[in-house]
Amino acid sequence: MHTVTTIDGLRTARAGLAEPVGLVPTMGYLHEGHLALVRAAQERCESVVVSIFVNPAQFGPNEDLAKYPRDIPRDLALLEEAGVDLVWLPTSEVMYPEGFQTWVDVSEVSQPLEGGMRPGHFRGVATVVAKLFNATEAHFAFFGQKDAQQVAVIKRMARDLNFPLGVVVVPTQREADGLARSSRNVFLSAEERGQAPALYRALIAAKDAYEAGERNAEKIRRVMLGTLAGASLAQVQYVSCAHPETLAELDTVSADGALLSMAVYFGKTRLIDNLVLEGQ
Ligand code: PAF
Repeated sequence: MHTVTTIDGLRTARAGLAEPVGLVPTMGYLHEGHLALVRAAQERCESVVVSIFVNPAQFGPNEDLAKYPRDIPRDLALLEEAGVDLVWLPTSEVMYPEGFQTWVDVSEVSQPLEGGMRPGHFRGVATVVAKLFNATEAHFAFFGQKDAQQVAVIKRMARDLNFPLGVVVVPTQREADGLARSSRNVFLSAEERGQAPALYRALIAAKDAYEAGERNAEKIRRVMLGTLAGASLAQVQYVSCAHPETLAELDTVSADGALLSMAVYFGKTRLIDNLVLEGQ
């Protein structure tokens, strides 16, 4: 496994990779969810590049960039064991050199949901992902369904800017009790961890209602809120039943289906989860 930091180092190592090349962009502190992305990339591609970069541009002023968990030696050991070909670990100076001033703003899809709670977040994500796509010249890039709005923003960007690359979405990895795997789960207390599967239960309850014929989006949102109300430590930030591509809130779920999503605080830890209702 090669490990590189600079753009020149990346270009040289990239030139020696068998194609097609798959890219798995990460911010490190890897867990099973990331390794599932690596496996999906290995199934589809001859070589796999993983980037590890905690992107300052996607953190808001009140979000603690310094406290984002990091463990590069462990990450590298996991990637080596997984059989990854190349790891790119750019520094902030490599990604945002002095004078940097070009940003990618996916204007509409970035606004609601997570974008509403975290202004500027998706501008930071879209910009760094565009740079990762360009620098690695990957043929496919792999993202988790867990960050559903991120997927919608990146797909839109890839189409709008004609990136010659396929965006592949990998299903959310879950613990046995349904909790979506996330680097943030380590911050949950034992009691919070016990209640956290309420997010998934709420999504499943809404899906059951949909499959039983419910199409009224407000009623579907209320089903989710009803389940979350059973978790005494849960503080709901939002629940959403939105169009799967535009992410506009729906009145009625049409043949396009819907994206159900939510953000819920347990203490200081903010958890998100989602589920796609397939159109019928
Ligand atoms: O999902 C993430 O970890 C990040 O948002 C990404 C895609 C690596 C961009 O920094």
